Amino acid sequence: MAPKVAGTWHLHQLTLDLPLDFFVCFSSMASMLGSPGQGNYAAANGFMDAIAHYRRGQGLPGLSINWGAWAAGGMAARLDSFNQQRLDRSGMIAIKPEQGMQALGSLLSESQSQVGVFPINWSRFVSQLPGGQKIPFLEALISTEPSLTQKSAFREQLEAAAVSERQELLTTQIRSVIAKTLGWTDAQKIGMRQPLFELGLDSLMAVELKNRLESSLGTSLSSTLLFDYPTLEALVEYLANDVIPLDFSDQTEKLKEEDVPEEHSSQLSDVTQLSETELEASVLEEIEALEKLI
Ligand SMILES: NC(=O)c1ccc[n+]([C@@H]2O[C@H](COP(=O)([O-])OP(=O)(O)OC[C@H]3O[C@@H](n4cnc5c(N)ncnc54)[C@H](OP(=O)(O)O)[C@@H]3O)[C@@H](O)[C@H]2O)c1
Repeated sequence: MAPKVAGTWHLHQLTLDLPLDFFVCFSSMASMLGSPGQGNYAAANGFMDAIAHYRRGQGLPGLSINWGAWAAGGMAARLDSFNQQRLDRSGMIAIKPEQGMQALGSLLSESQSQVGVFPINWSRFVSQLPGGQKIPFLEALISTEPSLTQKSAFREQLEAAAVSERQELLTTQIRSVIAKTLGWTDAQKIGMRQPLFELGLDSLMAVELKNRLESSLGTSLSSTLLFDYPTLEALVEYLANDVIPLDFSDQTEKLKEEDVPEEHSSQLSDVTQLSETELEASVLEEIEALEKLI
């Protein structure tokens, strides 16, 4: 943050007496739209934007360009492939150097103090925003904002499913969302009790994963979700029991697995070990005993 803020301020101060034609700041779309995990970078660029407005107010030249990622020759092009994919998933389309230079050339002759230059796939950008988040700044550009009142396709599928199938459906969905966030193609590699942060999930991915789960489940979730429930098993359990207002408990299954009292359960296992003739004899014995009682 300091190099951008101090550098911009010094250039502003030290050129005040010069008859400049242009004073152009290379800012970022991070200060225009926000960027998860880049609060400091957004603030530094916000300072550049403010200086451009301030200078214009003083009758001095000033332009701040909020660039998207450049395809070549700069910091975005140096990102590793995972982070390149992350940009791609967020809807960003890289600026080709010739496009960028053309935009710069035309902006120099215009009178705005701040302009965003970022090719973007808006529907992809909107789909990765936290569920229900509205960006008033973009209202004129984005007509269909995500809404938690709109049911997600997965939520509808979950509601339509038999109670006995919901838990498995939810597990498969969450597993696939985690795999997508990690950039994995094989979701089955994610074990139920494996801590997700040991699989390579970082704090930025935790935000992405939470946002994806919000869109997929059509519900808002805490930003500490992945820290509170750091395994697939814990997530499924929490979402099924405390978040999604649907019945996940299959009573018959439950009865089979958990609710049979211990003594009955051991009697049950005795019964399953009997041969057919022994079983028949045992049932007849029980009937006879009952008849005596009547
Ligand atoms: N490339 C993009 O996709 C993109 C997108 C949005 C905005 N921007 C903005 O455009 C500008 C240029 O980006 P770039 O991609 O060309 O960056 P870059 O390739 O990383 O170059 C950064 C330049 O800043 C200098 N620098 C870095 N840290 C410094 C420090 N602490 N003090 C003084 N100078 C320092 C570097 O000097 P050395 O050469 O001596 O290291 C280098 O000349 C930046 O302000 C960036 O925020 C770039």
